[in-house]
Amino acid sequence: MSWIKGKICIITGSNSGIGKETAIALARMGARIVMVVRDQERGEKARTEIVEQTKNDSVDLMICDLSLMDSIRHFAEEFKKKYDRLDVLINNAGASFSKREVTSEGFERNFAVNYLGPFLLTHELLDLLKSSAPSRIINVSSGLAKNGKVDLNYLQSENNYTRTKFYSPSRSLGYDNAKLMLMMFTYELARRLKGSGVTVNVLMPGFTATNLGKSSGSLSSYVLFKMVRPMQQSARKGAETSIYLASSDEVRDVTGKCFAKKKETESCPGSYDKELQKSLWNKTESMLGLAPKRTMRAL
Ligand SMILES: NC(=O)c1ccc[n+]([C@@H]2O[C@H](COP(=O)([O-])OP(=O)(O)OC[C@H]3O[C@@H](n4cnc5c(N)ncnc54)[C@H](OP(=O)(O)O)[C@@H]3O)[C@@H](O)[C@H]2O)c1
Repeated sequence: MSWIKGKICIITGSNSGIGKETAIALARMGARIVMVVRDQERGEKARTEIVEQTKNDSVDLMICDLSLMDSIRHFAEEFKKKYDRLDVLINNAGASFSKREVTSEGFERNFAVNYLGPFLLTHELLDLLKSSAPSRIINVSSGLAKNGKVDLNYLQSENNYTRTKFYSPSRSLGYDNAKLMLMMFTYELARRLKGSGVTVNVLMPGFTATNLGKSSGSLSSYVLFKMVRPMQQSARKGAETSIYLASSDEVRDVTGKCFAKKKETESCPGSYDKELQKSLWNKTESMLGLAPKRTMRAL
């Protein structure tokens, strides 16, 4: 019997694309799914489809805007009122914006949804993940992280936002930078969680036909994104590594690694800078006003 049967799995951004396919596959295996989405209507529609397709009605829907830290804190509180354990957290939600914009809380949007949001959500749920151990955290990053740069003075891409290559639709360095930060967060968190029974890994799903790019804010990006559709794998294929990391016994004790195509792989060289990982962690904690956890000291 698969490890995942009966386990409670949060999947962010599971009304669409890779997240939805991940939810379908894990629901088929008997997991209890908590879909975390920002839009009630889109969420309900996807939930109905998932239940119909899998005949598993243990699929809950909760609302959270992952680009807003207040919304994340509120969601985490609500989740802890409803559930007394959490076995798998999949930080899947993501978006790419070509124009630089800030949220109502003052954070650049790529940075907020692709890095700061997952950092805070994980932090808020960590005690529950620890008390439910063995448990797993899975971060969905991107191969585009290799173009990213982490400059502690300009974490929100104030100085290197635009990428000008015409063939790079839906792209801005803001997205690449944030996905690189998500990788570095994974490696630092894995060290801090050593011995806790909570594993954390990051993955690169590959070039996948989803809605990513629709929200980029630029028509040319969107048109170009449509044009490359034939080169993209299906969302079901793109979800395979997330599904593997959530459910396979083979990765039960594996932590602090990067995966692609269901295999361990190297991420870009810049992601392995331990000093920068630590500094990024500290700076992020202070941006979020988080007190360093006594049990989460740097190793
Ligand atoms: N597709 C690719 O080629 C590719 C390649 C590498 C990495 N990835 C990564 O894979 C992950 C899944 O993306 P996808 O390709 O499946 O794209 P997608 O179809 O656009 O799915 C993204 C999901 O994230 C949700 N989301 C976006 N902003 C959010 C917010 N502020 N709060 C809550 N949820 C939010 C979306 O909700 P809405 O439907 O409400 O917008 C959607 O459910 C992302 O992290 C993406 O960066 C994708």
